Amino acid sequence: MPSRRTPKRKLSHIQTTLHEQVQSHVPTGFDDVRLIHKALPELDRDEIDLSTEIFGHKLKAPLIIESMTGGTPLAARINRTLARVAERLGIAMGVGSQRAAIEDESLAYTYRVARETAPSIPLFANLGCPQLTRDDAVDRAKKAVDMIHATGLFIHLNALQESVQFEGETDFRDMLHRISDLAEQLSVPVLVKETGAGIAKETAQALERAHVKGINVSGLGGTSWAGVEYYRARAKQYKLQMELGTTFWNWGTPTVPSIVEVANSTSLRVFASGGVRNGLHIGKALGLGAHYGGLALPMLKSASSGEKAATARLTTVIEELRNAMFLTGSHNLQELRQIPLVITGATHQWLTQRGFDPARYANRKPI
Ligand SMILES: Cc1cc2nc3c(=O)[nH]c(=O)nc-3n(C[C@H](O)[C@H](O)[C@H](O)COP(=O)(O)O)c2cc1C
Repeated sequence: MPSRRTPKRKLSHIQTTLHEQVQSHVPTGFDDVRLIHKALPELDRDEIDLSTEIFGHKLKAPLIIESMTGGTPLAARINRTLARVAERLGIAMGVGSQRAAIEDESLAYTYRVARETAPSIPLFANLGCPQLTRDDAVDRAKKAVDMIHATGLFIHLNALQESVQFEGETDFRDMLHRISDLAEQLSVPVLVKETGAGIAKETAQALERAHVKGINVSGLGGTSWAGVEYYRARAKQYKLQMELGTTFWNWGTPTVPSIVEVANSTSLRVFASGGVRNGLHIGKALGLGAHYGGLALPMLKSASSGEKAATARLTTVIEELRNAMFLTGSHNLQELRQIPLVITGATHQWLTQRGFDPARYANRKPI
């Protein structure tokens, strides 16, 4: 029996994130990072190469439109708009959790539309880790991948959200083992992403041992899912969930420390997201060791204004990244990932206490 609750929840997530203030009150840490300005860049801005690859597929820029939506007619429109922009700009994209379409095949078109609109981009399937507790988890994952001819599958970790929402699924026992089983059985790479609370080095290392091929840190500092669930609980006057949402609004590892922890403790592909709002943030993320940067909420907002607005948003992000590369003398992303940078403030303290030496970034030699 298909569940009608999943699509309803998806719609309310779009509406809440578009119309309420769901930002974390804790910063990402990007303001604590300063790239060292190169007053003599010794390069022509026009010759900068932003291209890269992702699991054997070319990208014109190291960017992914984050996993967000599907399951409703509005989500289908948003996915179509985002896919058009991704195809035009030559970047990657993720669809939102495909649970709705696995439970009700008539909703599959709301995800498929992304692949039909963007036949050539790296496109990522998505399932929540509570889905892995089911006996038919591997079959469901294969269905999600086949549905959109996906390049890889993101399993999202959302313990914070599940623990705050009234219909939350909070049995996270044995999840690492289940992720590992899935990674061994799927023919495409399995990746893991958080959803705004970040990933610390201990979890990252465990995930690497579980055969995942990439980690999207999705750290604290952008969209707060405790915040989203607070508003949804308020609409129904669920007092306990409102309290939980308020208390845990700023829970998690901020994005910048999370990037440093994951990039320095694993050899996985690292996606930087969670409060990434411009191309300078992406330049900093790559300088810190990430391979790609991703935006979620800003893309939902611009896509709901239309394709032109979404294209303009991402074109600006790409030009900002190019500028950061120009001003640090980076001809390409490999050089950007080796530039000297300084980490100050709360992020410096965090990293020092967690056993990382921020000075290794400040004193490294550019390529
Ligand atoms: C409306 C909305 C729906 C989302 N749905 C999903 C989802 O289904 N699966 C997932 O992995 N992440 C989902 N996310 C989380 C984002 O991919 C991202 O990790 C998070 O929002 C932080 O990025 P931001 O600060 O740029 O919004 C969603 C985000 C938004 C705004």
